[in-house]
Amino acid sequence: MYEPRHAEIIEGLTRTPARISPKYFYDERGSKLFEAITQLPEYYPTRTEHAILEQSGPEIARAIGSGCTLIEPGAGSCAKAAVLCGLIAPRCFVGVDISADYLSEAVQRLGARFPAMDARALGGDITRGIHLPDDLPAAPRLVFYPGSSIGNFDPPSALALLRQMRALARDDGGLLIGIDLPKDVAVLEAAYDDAQGVTAQFNRNVLAHLNRLIGSDFETDDWRHRAFFNPEESRIEMHLEACVPVDVHWPGGARAFAMGERIHTENSYKYSLDRFCDLLAQAGFARARAWQDARGWFAVVHAQP
Ligand code: AVI
Repeated sequence: MYEPRHAEIIEGLTRTPARISPKYFYDERGSKLFEAITQLPEYYPTRTEHAILEQSGPEIARAIGSGCTLIEPGAGSCAKAAVLCGLIAPRCFVGVDISADYLSEAVQRLGARFPAMDARALGGDITRGIHLPDDLPAAPRLVFYPGSSIGNFDPPSALALLRQMRALARDDGGLLIGIDLPKDVAVLEAAYDDAQGVTAQFNRNVLAHLNRLIGSDFETDDWRHRAFFNPEESRIEMHLEACVPVDVHWPGGARAFAMGERIHTENSYKYSLDRFCDLLAQAGFARARAWQDARGWFAVVHAQP
């Protein structure tokens, strides 16, 4: 018997077309490569979202109010939480991440920077439902989900996730979320296929991670990075394409890939504000206010029940 994670990976590899979940991008090297992606000239989302938080910070802070309990799923380094904490002075911060060790250090640093705030780290994965500590202050809860990570889920899964966030926010709280908006295809495609090839390394690294996880024998050099905009689905798709005929083996199984055959590794949906507000309404957020950059490339949305 395989452990459940192995079974899920192998099920994806043996499908036609094959697929690998983007959650497997983030081993240690993958997380560093993603950090490097956020600094690339072509990758606009991180710096655009940051600029919106800087420029519209006082207005966003007025809309949210101070003294809330701030909950950030996938908090990681807490770098974005630090910017928000400077704006809204939360009473309590709960960072949630799968990698609890890395998170605890980051939360400790955040707590040292904002000593009046009760800063806590919680190991967990919001897609599986998280259980908050019972002793949180009786303050309104704000769920913070920056970076347009919601775009990496297909719309039904995104809706399920927004519903979880709605439940966490309860009736007196809210959600502050980053959304990458549709734009010129050339701009989008360059952001996911940069000139230095960092995104290509990030994409291919998932195979090295899988080799360690399931004992497969992928040669990363046999695979080419492909990234393109799919207008019907309004999403960037990332794939790995076999440059030669490839036979991959793992304990108990194998798969042959013809030259040119692809493995689908990621979708990054680009929602218009209208479409995203529909999704928010379906999740139980009746009110939404958005702030955008001057080019209309990215939006920070504050949603309330
Ligand atoms: C994490 N997520 C929001 C990134 C995105 O833009 O979809 C992941 C990424 N994939 C390639 N480049 C960045």
